[in-house]
Amino acid sequence: MEIIHVSAECYPVAKVGGLGDVVGALPKYQQQLGHTAKVVLPMYRTAFLYRHDWEVVHKGRTHLGNWWFDYTVIKERTNELGFDLYLIDIYGLLDREGVYGYSDDAERFTAFQVAFVDWVSQWRHRPDVVHVHDHHTGLIPFFMQYTYDYGHLKGIPTVLTIHNAQYQGWMGWDKGHLLPRYDAWKAGLLEWKGTINPLACAVRSAWKVTTVSPSYMAELKYNSNGLEALFEYEKGKCSGILNGIDAQVWDPATDTYLATHYDHTTVREGKAAHKKALCKRFQLDPSKPLFIFIGRLVGEKAADLLPAVVGDCFHYIGRSMNFLILGSGDPNVERHLAHVEDMVGKDFRFYKGYNEQLSHEMYAGADFLLMPSRVEPCGLNQMYALRYGTIPIVRNTGGLRDTVVDFEDWQGFGVRFNDASVGDITHAIYRALKLYGDPEQFGTIQERIMQIDHSWESSAHQYLTIYPAL
Ligand code: ADP
Ligand code: GLC
Repeated sequence: MEIIHVSAECYPVAKVGGLGDVVGALPKYQQQLGHTAKVVLPMYRTAFLYRHDWEVVHKGRTHLGNWWFDYTVIKERTNELGFDLYLIDIYGLLDREGVYGYSDDAERFTAFQVAFVDWVSQWRHRPDVVHVHDHHTGLIPFFMQYTYDYGHLKGIPTVLTIHNAQYQGWMGWDKGHLLPRYDAWKAGLLEWKGTINPLACAVRSAWKVTTVSPSYMAELKYNSNGLEALFEYEKGKCSGILNGIDAQVWDPATDTYLATHYDHTTVREGKAAHKKALCKRFQLDPSKPLFIFIGRLVGEKAADLLPAVVGDCFHYIGRSMNFLILGSGDPNVERHLAHVEDMVGKDFRFYKGYNEQLSHEMYAGADFLLMPSRVEPCGLNQMYALRYGTIPIVRNTGGLRDTVVDFEDWQGFGVRFNDASVGDITHAIYRALKLYGDPEQFGTIQERIMQIDHSWESSAHQYLTIYPAL
């Protein structure tokens, strides 16, 4: 089967969060299962682009409304990622630093999607599935069925995977002229509550819809940023498939970002060495348990609660723990965390920014990972933490609910709590400290969690079971 993934992110080419990890791993595992999986991304100006060799596979010309543009499709020569990677270059629009966040993102991603369908419409063969990810590629299933120029692609099955329904790519109808001419009777598929909504359009137009955990699939019907009724209506074609992790990249026994390696048989000494190095670098005390947070500093991740949680922990529980936070995002949260660091002096460090290497070192050196997310469609951090013997402390939501069992429940290994509130998070940390205070139980759990298999093997199979059903 030939599967074409179209996405805005793919690790290690371009990654902002978990979407990049998933699109960098799933196709590799699909290839290993004997299928042909290809990935198509916008050509951003990334380090990966300059470090690799490319061949031009197609040059085309198409338009957004009256604005005609040229695009070039290039392919990575070495197949180093384990699948064929194609980048679409649109001069002046996509070739910029970073992935999102430009005021003309609507034009950028619409042009990317138009160029994609324009290119595919010139292939001499038809792929078996076009698999799009999130709203940035959500107009493609519509373009492939209801536009005059590309509607002949109608017979090709399309699958949408929703990684996060909070972001929907809304644009005003004043941008409607950018879309390829479409059957006016189908305009309703584009519209949701007065705007063009690419995510809602994809949910209606794709042949099948998946999201990244079964629990999040259930939540979408009552919490999906305005699309609740749509998910209820379309539930027949929707399913939840839990993400996996790329066990080849995320393995403390071989991780190329780590100076020393360990596995479940050497977890205590292995992690102790990493903790020592990390604490030395950040002037923390390695004799205290180390709690980390890694992620986008946004409301969804409940990062705004962290300053108050740290304050309450130090005040009510005492200075018996260390915190290390890695992330960037909302400038208010960043400022607040920097302020806490100034105020408390020690036991708390905040590293502002994105740092892939440091994130691996933190998963290896920490005792606990905090994920108090208000919304977490799947969450990969907790699965990486498990693989590195770091105990996750998570809110009972989405993929966190599907992957973490509280240590006080049968066969449990993590800490789970219900509310994204300062009180509940602080109490969860208090419970984690009790667990840490029992080295025997703590060590046994560390060994056990490192052996839980969250690799893509089983999830990649589940995708294959929905493709032929199309
Ligand atoms: P989301 O995609 O919602 O951000 P996930 O848990 O699915 O959340 O994935 C987050 C991914 O991004 C993980 O690989 C995590 O390690 C990484 N990550 C997030 N923030 C940072 C950061 N500041 N530095 C390095 N890696 C980060
Ligand atoms: C999104 C979600 C996250 C998920 C990731 C990969 O960014 O917020 O929970 O793990 O996509 O699917």
